[in-house]
Amino acid sequence: MPAPATARKTAIHADLLDFTGDPGLDALHSPAVRWRPDHWLLIDEQGRILAVQPQAPGDDFEQHEHRGRLLMPGFIDTHVHCPQIDVIGSWGTQLLDWLETYTFPAEAAHADPVVAAAASALFLDALLAHGSTAAVVFPTVHRGSVEALFTAAQARGMRVISGKVLMDRHAPAALRDDVAGAERDCRALIARWHGQGRLAYAVTPRFAATSSPEQLAMAGRLLAEHPGLYLQTHVAENPAEVAWVAQLFPEARSYLDVYARHGLLTERAVFAHGIWLDDTDRSHLHDAGAQIAFCPSSNLFLGSGLFGWRAAREAGVAVSLASDVGGGTSLSMLRTMAEGYKVQALAGTRLTAWALLHAATRGAAQALRLGHEIGTLEAGLMADLCLWDWAVGPVATRRHALARELHEQVFAWVTLGDERNLLECWVGGQRRHARHSP
Ligand code: GUN
Ligand code: ZN
Repeated sequence: MPAPATARKTAIHADLLDFTGDPGLDALHSPAVRWRPDHWLLIDEQGRILAVQPQAPGDDFEQHEHRGRLLMPGFIDTHVHCPQIDVIGSWGTQLLDWLETYTFPAEAAHADPVVAAAASALFLDALLAHGSTAAVVFPTVHRGSVEALFTAAQARGMRVISGKVLMDRHAPAALRDDVAGAERDCRALIARWHGQGRLAYAVTPRFAATSSPEQLAMAGRLLAEHPGLYLQTHVAENPAEVAWVAQLFPEARSYLDVYARHGLLTERAVFAHGIWLDDTDRSHLHDAGAQIAFCPSSNLFLGSGLFGWRAAREAGVAVSLASDVGGGTSLSMLRTMAEGYKVQALAGTRLTAWALLHAATRGAAQALRLGHEIGTLEAGLMADLCLWDWAVGPVATRRHALARELHEQVFAWVTLGDERNLLECWVGGQRRHARHSP
């Protein structure tokens, strides 16, 4: 995989945190937590992690001194909508009204390639400024929006998975495609972008309600023909949506079954939300090796419901974390974790900081079958990294000073932190974001 060459070998001195395995949901002590304080992370000229070691490297490395700061793998946002930066924080609706009132009009503007290019640059720079170095992204129905997003991602060296949104019904005319045109666009985009550097194509039916059975079948054919493709969509997010999908597909056993019947339940499938699933659905997700992207700030903001992480885990379904901006209210994965903690607390599950951080790093990488590239601080992986301040402002600083052990310290950071804590973000060994002085 070609990566941008760094001018020199680089080394960063900080406190390193990552995971060597799955730490579980609520165990405070887990051998999967790898804490390497006061270590050097070495990066080669190709932007890959060379080694992690306690001793300083030689002066053939460009050295970056950040003792006392936290160095983690960049976060992976497994479900986010590029054009919806324009509607984040829109008042007063649940999912179906929200789409009609705010989202569809905003996405229609992306028919213009100039708008799409500017939006893609702003969006990816914002992801980096929030500490996310990889993402699974919805652009719009327009082929140009995918071109714009992949072009901007390539320029930044980011790991981005995306694809043209498929919508051939129940959407405004300006956002509707048709089966034949959509198939042509998808095939052209796959040929142009899938597997180019760090980019991968995701077949992207928006949700069951906006694709005809014929379009879902076409999506299934694409997946069957190209084994490395991803699938991204929404499932069982909101009760009115679930009832509508049941009316549209009376033959299906469940909302998830609509996708299964069309060949969309694969090991590279990312299903956003999955709040209103049952045990049979969860067992089918597990059998397929598909993942659920848990989007707590969106689920709270749109009043969609409370995702059952424990039930998913007990069924063996991988769960990653996602911002779902603009239904979600922040690109910050730290804020997303804090919201996720609260949602699970309502169901009696107290997620550890380990569970939350793992879901946004190694857990997501494994679920995306990208554990060989991202998610941990392991030699050979891409140097996609974030350097964090433990505390910003007097309250967090005081809380940090009083923390007695590592989990307490990390949990306070997860709960109180956000993008203001991010000092630098590195992608493939290149520093792509540096905070201005506060
Ligand atoms: N379901 C279909 N489209 C969308 C979307 O854009 N956002 C969310 N949260 N749910 C959806
Ligand atoms: Zn979404």
